[in-house]
Amino acid sequence: MCGIVGYSGLKQAAPILLDGLARLEYRGYDSAGIAVRDGDGEIKVVKAKGRLAVLAEKTDSGKALLGRCGVGHTRWATHGAPSEINAHPHHSDDGNVVGIHNGIIENYKELKELLEKNGYSFYSSTDTEVAIKLIDYYYKKGSGSPIDALTRAMTRITGSYSFAILFKDFPDEIFAARKDSPLIVGVGDDESFLASDVPAILKYTRSVYYIGNYEIAHLSGGKVDFYNIDGERIEKEPSEISWDAATAEKAGYEHFMIKEIHEQPEAVKNTLSSVIHDGKIDLSSVGITDEELKSISTIYIVACGSAYHVGAVMQYVIEDLAGIPVRVELASEFRYRKPVLDKSGLCIIISQSGETADSLAALREAKSRGLRTLAIVNVVGSSIAREADNVFYTLAGPEIAVATTKAYSAQLVAGYTFAVQLAYVLGRIDETKYEDLIAELLTLPEKIETILEDKERLQWFAAKQSSSTDIFFIGRGIDYAISLEGSLKMKEISYIHSESYAAGELKHGAISLIEDGTLVVGCLTQSELYEKTVSNMVECQSRGAYLMAVTTAGNYNTEDIADFTVYIPETDSHFAASLAVVPLQLMSYYVSLAKGLDVDKPRNLAKSVTVE
Ligand code: G6P
Repeated sequence: MCGIVGYSGLKQAAPILLDGLARLEYRGYDSAGIAVRDGDGEIKVVKAKGRLAVLAEKTDSGKALLGRCGVGHTRWATHGAPSEINAHPHHSDDGNVVGIHNGIIENYKELKELLEKNGYSFYSSTDTEVAIKLIDYYYKKGSGSPIDALTRAMTRITGSYSFAILFKDFPDEIFAARKDSPLIVGVGDDESFLASDVPAILKYTRSVYYIGNYEIAHLSGGKVDFYNIDGERIEKEPSEISWDAATAEKAGYEHFMIKEIHEQPEAVKNTLSSVIHDGKIDLSSVGITDEELKSISTIYIVACGSAYHVGAVMQYVIEDLAGIPVRVELASEFRYRKPVLDKSGLCIIISQSGETADSLAALREAKSRGLRTLAIVNVVGSSIAREADNVFYTLAGPEIAVATTKAYSAQLVAGYTFAVQLAYVLGRIDETKYEDLIAELLTLPEKIETILEDKERLQWFAAKQSSSTDIFFIGRGIDYAISLEGSLKMKEISYIHSESYAAGELKHGAISLIEDGTLVVGCLTQSELYEKTVSNMVECQSRGAYLMAVTTAGNYNTEDIADFTVYIPETDSHFAASLAVVPLQLMSYYVSLAKGLDVDKPRNLAKSVTVE
């Protein structure tokens, strides 16, 4: 997955492109490149392996490259190792067509053979170079129209893409096309912008067009035209972005991750407020009526990464409150497993980006099987949001750190409100319980705030754990779902091996890994399972483990066994994940910080995984 930017206007393009790419670096950061041209001049391409800073240095922050039209790319390798040669932009043999790409061309081998037969040679090991040369091939073979060349290439390509292409014969113009990889167009006075995501262009304009699948955009200064795959002109309405550029910046925090951890009370509050009115849950903005809720037989929750962990919490909450069977699945498994699905079931896809390839494919699979689909998504206008039957938008705002925090928390509360409403309309909880649960939900932002206020203790403890080699997170029930997320946060940003285990399962294998000093983190928020998990922790302790506990205020006996205890405020046990996850996020953050790692951009990971 990669980041794409483009500019056509009256200003020098390169500094604008670099600035936009800096805001998209979260999408990938193993190499970067830009292509710019001025009037009838040659298209100049500069690429660099490594972070964007290397490219910026090579081009004197873009100042060394003249030209008022160009495209830029930040790459996360899929086909071909990270290197300068594989970095985008790529160009046709004669330099006539230059372009960048996000996505995967699945049939690139077949297309490469076709092109080789027609005299093309290849300098890189990327699928992108094949796509650019295919466009060049159709450009030369056809009527000499970029739109025609693009539509022909789009018909031949299978896979996912967003392209931004410069044609030598069309100075100051950018041609863009999209299928399954995000791409937006921003329009200002006498200038237009292209980007994979809104933060890249928010500084310049708030007026944004979402390019749809199989659509083409033609940017020429302040003029933008759209075409369908048949090459016909189509009309599109712009959307106005309401959040401001500062939201996408660090706002004084050292890292995006700690900023976003602190934004959780707001993300949770905003998400709750979007569906709780006058003490009642109102899912009309989601588009699901109470009658429709009543007809749901089964719920399939499908997601990846932390979003999957939200699903794991939701499974416990929905089954316990609403009494409906829930199955939680990893999207990468669901899409190929040929699952047996009940047609009157609801498939819930959870995704921050709304672009995760496996989640999108799972959504399509569920739809093709006739299931109703509901997306819990953070990015407005994203592919999953557009394709699902109903969308519950989490209002977390843009999330930049690769390790998700506020989007996870917003997804959790979206899930809770759905579960509570379902339980209520099904008559599984009475009016009083319904009102109590809603009132409790509304206290979560303040309770998260309280945990954040006490972060120094965690920082001190985390610094001591930075030399750990293995950490285990254990719990039962919802506490197990919480430990899944705690463990993922730890390993992704601290590079410490960590595992989460259902506490009762330890004795079937993992306990053999406990050595003197191994840190075991026990999640103890579910009162009826408290004693059981405590005894599993004690078993680990007797084999040398060092114990940390996360438990609810009042469980002060925990300190008799745990070496370090963190208390979270009391809440309804169904909602405990919203509070217990916060100290675990903070601990991972501070361990990563103590190790001097790149917290926001952990190695080998990317924020938005738009490939399989
Ligand atoms: C990546 C991110 C995770 C995220 C997962 C799913 O792995 O690093 O933080 O949970 O993708 O992403 P989504 O956008 O679908 O929630």
